[in-house]
Amino acid sequence: MDKVIIFDTTLRDGEQSPGCSMDAAEKFEVAQQLARLKVDVIEAGFPISSPGDFQAVKRIAGTVGRGKKGVHTPQICGLARCVKTDIDACWNAVKDARFPRIHTFIATSDIHIEHKFKSTRAQILDRAVEMVKHARKYTPNVEFSPEDAVRSDFDYLCQVVTAVIDAGASTVNIPDTVGYSVPVEFGNLIKRLIERVPNVKKAVISVHCHNDLGLAVSNSLAAVLNGARQVECTVNGLGERAGNAAMEEVVMAIKTRKDLFRASTGVDTKEIYRASRLVSQITGMVVQPNKAIVGANAFAHSSGIHQDGMIKNRTTYEIMNPEEVGIEESALLLTARSGRNGLNNRLKHLGFHLSVKELDEIFERFKTLADKKKYVFDEDLTALLSEGKSETPETFALEYLNISAGTGTIPTATVRLNKGGKVFQEAACGDGPVDAMTKAVDKITGLKPKMEDYSLRSVSSGKDALGEVTVRVDHQGLKMLGRGTSTDIIEASAKAYVTAVNRLLAASNKTGAKPAIKEKI
Ligand code: KIV
Ligand code: ZN
Repeated sequence: MDKVIIFDTTLRDGEQSPGCSMDAAEKFEVAQQLARLKVDVIEAGFPISSPGDFQAVKRIAGTVGRGKKGVHTPQICGLARCVKTDIDACWNAVKDARFPRIHTFIATSDIHIEHKFKSTRAQILDRAVEMVKHARKYTPNVEFSPEDAVRSDFDYLCQVVTAVIDAGASTVNIPDTVGYSVPVEFGNLIKRLIERVPNVKKAVISVHCHNDLGLAVSNSLAAVLNGARQVECTVNGLGERAGNAAMEEVVMAIKTRKDLFRASTGVDTKEIYRASRLVSQITGMVVQPNKAIVGANAFAHSSGIHQDGMIKNRTTYEIMNPEEVGIEESALLLTARSGRNGLNNRLKHLGFHLSVKELDEIFERFKTLADKKKYVFDEDLTALLSEGKSETPETFALEYLNISAGTGTIPTATVRLNKGGKVFQEAACGDGPVDAMTKAVDKITGLKPKMEDYSLRSVSSGKDALGEVTVRVDHQGLKMLGRGTSTDIIEASAKAYVTAVNRLLAASNKTGAKPAIKEKI
């Protein structure tokens, strides 16, 4: 199998994304993770661009680039224009690395030659050759990029590539600087270039694709299929404008479809997710949930049919194992579309093995909850289960609750409780909605317990999280706890309070105390 070299430019092209600049310490942290990821080359920066970037590259070269015995040591590369002072600065920044690389570039498209340089093709060719030779004085590891190669005249491009290889470039990178190409065309460009350039075997052909048309990964892969053996890419696809080819997508495509590519990378894919999280945290660039490989939904299944398939065999709906990229497990998100099998599977995972009858019962309650909130989390399930597990025979059951509260309103609650088929209703005002609710309940039950403690916590995440209320009440020295859950915190409070009161009643029945019960309405 051929090896595809992974050249990571998160710290150079990625860092050029608007708002993504990193300081030296942050660059160092990312570089350490890139080494753990085992990318082959880290393009650590553009040393001439600022003293800070020079220092950041130097630090990475002298630490991550030194490597440790038995640990993967990446090549450390710096970018330089085809300008002597750039190349000298680049060398000074990378030279402490065990495997330093100088990457020098100059644009070869007529658009750039005429408008940017006000020069000629011949002059640009001479400069490219001269600067590659200059870089070669420092190291044999020299990469050359004809910027905007895709929009360059093909014959001229081949002439430049041939000349820089003769001048000593060991890697020639073909950039689609403006993300203009499409896979068939770009693949063909690489194929024709390899056929046309006579000394092409003396260098590695690399590609560097931008994502302006959303085709950076596809174009890079088309190039690999046509003989490119280095891909330049960035974590999460960061980079100028719409970004560069996403490293995680390139690497996982080559791995997952090795039957097609007949090639492999040296990347430790288990470190991909960690790298993605780190870069996202440091740059503040949020990863979209449906982003391939590292997005929050990349291994999440929500429909009942998909969950059922996944439970029976993971490969029904997954082409990669999430563990391969460092994600612990696939998420079977429980939503209103989930089925009984999905629910049961999750419950088993949480250690609850229910009988068919128990499952039927919890499934009904799960559906009611799932209709009220987007996702039902593990905490929601345990709350649902514990709610149904009360040892106390239910004396009163909450049937109806209506609250009127707000600024400038007297909080009022109307409560309807059911006891053995009989329905009782009362209304009351209070200092707040919870106080009004407890007063209405007290009117029905005839008990007037003191609320000793009231606590509310969110048992899952999101705005539609379940609230769990725990109350401790005291009735003539008898203390009882009650717990209730609901997406509506006043309803959760009522459930908790009624549970506590039922416990009091169960205890007071034993002692003979008879609370007053109102007539059926
Ligand atoms: O996009 C580009 O052409 C570049 C070069 C410097 C390789 O980033
Ligand atoms: Zn670029």
